[in-house]
Amino acid sequence: MNKTYLCFFALMLALLSCSPQRKQHRIGVSQCSEDIWRDWQNAEMRMEASFHENVALTFTTAHDDSQRQSQQIDSLVASGIDLLIVAPNQLSSVSPAIDRAYDSGVPVIVFERKTDSQKYTAFVSADNYEMGRQMGEYIAMRLDGKGQLMEILGLKGSSPADERHRGFRDAIAHYPDLKVVATLQGDWTEETAYEAVKAYLHHQPSINIDCVFGHNDRTAMGARKAMLEVSGFRFQVSGSQVSGSQSQTLPMFCGIDGLPGENGGIQQVRDSLLTASYIYPTRGDLLLQVALDILEGRSYEKEVMLTSALVTRENANVLLLESDEVMRRAQQLELLQEKASGYLHQLNAQRVVMWLAGIVIFLLLIAIVLFYLYHRNKVNMQRERVVQNLWNMPEAISSVPEGTTIPMQTEDDGAQTPSDEEEAASAPSTFITRFKEVVEKRMDDSELSVEDIAADMNLSRVQLYRKVKSLSGSSPVELLRTARLNRGYQMLLTTDKSISEVAYAVGFSAPAYFTKCFKDEFGMVPGEVRK
Ligand code: FRU
Repeated sequence: MNKTYLCFFALMLALLSCSPQRKQHRIGVSQCSEDIWRDWQNAEMRMEASFHENVALTFTTAHDDSQRQSQQIDSLVASGIDLLIVAPNQLSSVSPAIDRAYDSGVPVIVFERKTDSQKYTAFVSADNYEMGRQMGEYIAMRLDGKGQLMEILGLKGSSPADERHRGFRDAIAHYPDLKVVATLQGDWTEETAYEAVKAYLHHQPSINIDCVFGHNDRTAMGARKAMLEVSGFRFQVSGSQVSGSQSQTLPMFCGIDGLPGENGGIQQVRDSLLTASYIYPTRGDLLLQVALDILEGRSYEKEVMLTSALVTRENANVLLLESDEVMRRAQQLELLQEKASGYLHQLNAQRVVMWLAGIVIFLLLIAIVLFYLYHRNKVNMQRERVVQNLWNMPEAISSVPEGTTIPMQTEDDGAQTPSDEEEAASAPSTFITRFKEVVEKRMDDSELSVEDIAADMNLSRVQLYRKVKSLSGSSPVELLRTARLNRGYQMLLTTDKSISEVAYAVGFSAPAYFTKCFKDEFGMVPGEVRK
């Protein structure tokens, strides 16, 4: 019985501890670099994640180091992430780590920069070749198809650098009077471009450049800074705009990224620091949505191509206004979210307290029930044992049909409270033996009363009552009747005596009363025992 209750208890606990929360998605984001573009993207991912209570993001940045990025990917996978979002620093050097992640069963979203392997779940990017091509067309248009160009490449071995370069060259190939006089190796950073241009101009002080195409805005800005310095012009700078008699000799600077916000490419175009840029969409929000589609088993596109657009003086203002508006909304949203998550925390804390209180109350109830059952069981067993011992008539007791219980009555037969000395009666075993002897000896005596038994045992009626009651849970009268009936049952089975004879033999003065008591005790009339 106790086992059943323990199982029930365990089940209830399991049910109680089952929280209705959804599965937590641990998403690792491996960024190749840390810069303004990545910051935007990470912020977008964080913002999107905050709309889902079951997303945990872990960001790593490799600071343009492929080996470092490979190690970081391995660590992310080892930490147990459910999905990896990765912008590989270079096309091939990070691929083995990405393959390992994919092979270990972790879905992989490669974004913006490619790997040279097919082991990815989805790829999200804008078209880098097309950006380079359109930028080439735009520059050709601005220069009427003739002039000298400088190209500053992105990081060697990274796919956007290669694709932007090819697109750019394919476009200007149509303009024989457009010449790329300088191709400098960059690595996406402003500093490297600045140093490279400075070094180049040092060796080519009289070179005439009409336009610099940097593979990203930061590169173009680095080149601009270097040219301003090295050429030795004495410019007057009003705000961020260059003015002065020789300002027209400054080449055009074009880049890619077209970020919104303070010091972003759109603002730089509006302020004429750059002639043009091309929006390279960050779309961290979309990345996370694709991740959740994959993790939650919804359909998704394996190759997601993002749309983008050229930024020029003509549209920079509108784009900036629009992006400012979007940012303003995002800030409001963020504030709202902060408030909402504050409330949510409070609510959660309250929920936890209520759950705990519920569990404590439940445990208490269970403990009380178990204690009660255990106690009742123990008392019952004790009493059954005592009644059996007390009536150690193996034949009689063993012949009692299974499931028959000996009644436990709390009838008060006029007992007075005994003194402590009386309480100190004989030990249970001696008492039981004595009680049995007396009853056995006078079993057929219908006149045998409790007083007689007490007297035979040298006890008062009260002492006898208390002793019998405490040992068996029954009163002496009940116990005497049980003994008579048990003996009757046995005689019916083992002798040919009539029912009346048996009734008299076990001390019943009226056979009808014997039959009634017998039925009450065994659930059948004496005749049925014979059958
Ligand atoms: C950001 C960045 C961008 C560039 C892109 C190329 O880390 O350098 O400026 O457009 O990566 O992958």
